[in-house]
Amino acid sequence: MTDKLIIFDTTLRDGEQSPGASMTKDEKVRIAKSLERMRVDVIEAGFPRASKGDFDAVQAVAREIKESTVCALARALDADIDTAGEALKEANSSRIHTFIATSPIHMEKKLRMTPDQVVEQAVKAVKRARNWTNDVEFSPEDAGRSELDFLCRVIEQVIDAGATTINIPDTVGYNVPQQFGELIKSLISRIPNADKAVFSVHCHNDLGLAVANSLSAVMQGARQVECTINGLGERAGNAALEEVVMTLRTRQDLFTCDTGIDTTRIVSTSRLVSSITGFAVQPNKAIVGANAFAHESGIHQDGVLKNRETYEIMRAEDVGWSANRMVMGKHSGRNAFRTRMQELGISFESEEQLNITFARFKDLADKKHEIYDEDLQSLVSESESAAVNEQFKLVSMKVCSETGEVPIAALTITVNGVEQQGRAEGSGPVDAAFKAIESVVNSQTELQLYSVNSITSGTDAQGEVTVRLERGGRIVNGQGADVDIVTASVKAYLNALNKIAAPEERAHPQV
Ligand code: KIV
Ligand code: ZN
Repeated sequence: MTDKLIIFDTTLRDGEQSPGASMTKDEKVRIAKSLERMRVDVIEAGFPRASKGDFDAVQAVAREIKESTVCALARALDADIDTAGEALKEANSSRIHTFIATSPIHMEKKLRMTPDQVVEQAVKAVKRARNWTNDVEFSPEDAGRSELDFLCRVIEQVIDAGATTINIPDTVGYNVPQQFGELIKSLISRIPNADKAVFSVHCHNDLGLAVANSLSAVMQGARQVECTINGLGERAGNAALEEVVMTLRTRQDLFTCDTGIDTTRIVSTSRLVSSITGFAVQPNKAIVGANAFAHESGIHQDGVLKNRETYEIMRAEDVGWSANRMVMGKHSGRNAFRTRMQELGISFESEEQLNITFARFKDLADKKHEIYDEDLQSLVSESESAAVNEQFKLVSMKVCSETGEVPIAALTITVNGVEQQGRAEGSGPVDAAFKAIESVVNSQTELQLYSVNSITSGTDAQGEVTVRLERGGRIVNGQGADVDIVTASVKAYLNALNKIAAPEERAHPQV
């Protein structure tokens, strides 16, 4: 009999804690829908107490998601728990995840609390969370550096208080596989009421061991793994969902459990997360990297052609790699457009929103002969970007780039509805265009990242640009897509400026 391993995705919470990976409410909902389609069991949507924006995003995810459990993070504090409970009120199935640190260093230096006080606060938090939902997860933060006896004591008491999932985080990525597996085994065997809760693990990747540690824990009885798409997350990231899931699927000879994940959704979800956060996936990344299934050497190619199993342990199509599919063109109508969007899991809030996106599709089809699924996805990103309170808008631009001449850009943008002109030279056309925008806006921001990816193949492919800007410690990502790279870059820059113009105070859960 194969046990079920619960997949708890925290891309929208721990993933978002990576500097620069912040997401808007609509972006979070889109990713959540993609996770739901992939049949993720639990989606940790955010930390509602961090800011009003975080609260709204968790609430929006809770409203939209019907199949997966929606979870919200809360420190072991009354206000955090009540805010999480409030944000989750409309969820079909909700979970509150509360935590407090249990390692000597965190208790003494960060919390300045005695172990007794920590136990008392943990128990109180779990009881309070149970007033909101029967599904309560408790994490002893920095469990990987906590004392075993103390962990057993806290966990036994929080289970008695009503915790249904006990999550063991290796918060700083310090553990190694065999020892971490032993820790889980000891906890499960020593805690008298361990059978009343599901044991979970949450591993960080500081030593590159997050997936290995998680899997070692699964071998010793953990039945939930917390992970993120593409391994996104605080510092070096969390365990990558795609690696955990595909290891279990591929090595059923070694594991006594499996997940309910629809693995064919992995690649599209990975791409969505990468394009929204601007965190590119390295080509040699397992499962979702562009080269993960590419066989370059002649010997490998020959072997795969004779029998794919000579060099392939998984099938590319099982994780969702497929050739770009031409779905639509210039003559496709509104109904065909709506139907294909529905098939991609994209719905429109109103007829007006459908019409706006359809008009963008027609514009694109005029410039680009063949429209692929990825192009359709980017149209939605664009419509969502346009929905961000648009203080700055592009009206027109002219960019000259000629051999032997200094590139120059002249553009007209609206600032709060008023047209203004900017003009600047630069070391290249994109540099000139950004300087021309700054000659109008003077945003005092610092450019942290500029990246271009082609959405599909071919020289008429749309370029998808991410611009990451920083001001006063706040970091935002802007996106833009167009068949003209300079236009895509200008759209991304203005999108980032619009995002940074919206003020937001945000707290970090673990500080
Ligand atoms: O890494 C960590 O300890 C966390 C907890 C909040 C579970 O993210
Ligand atoms: Zn974490």
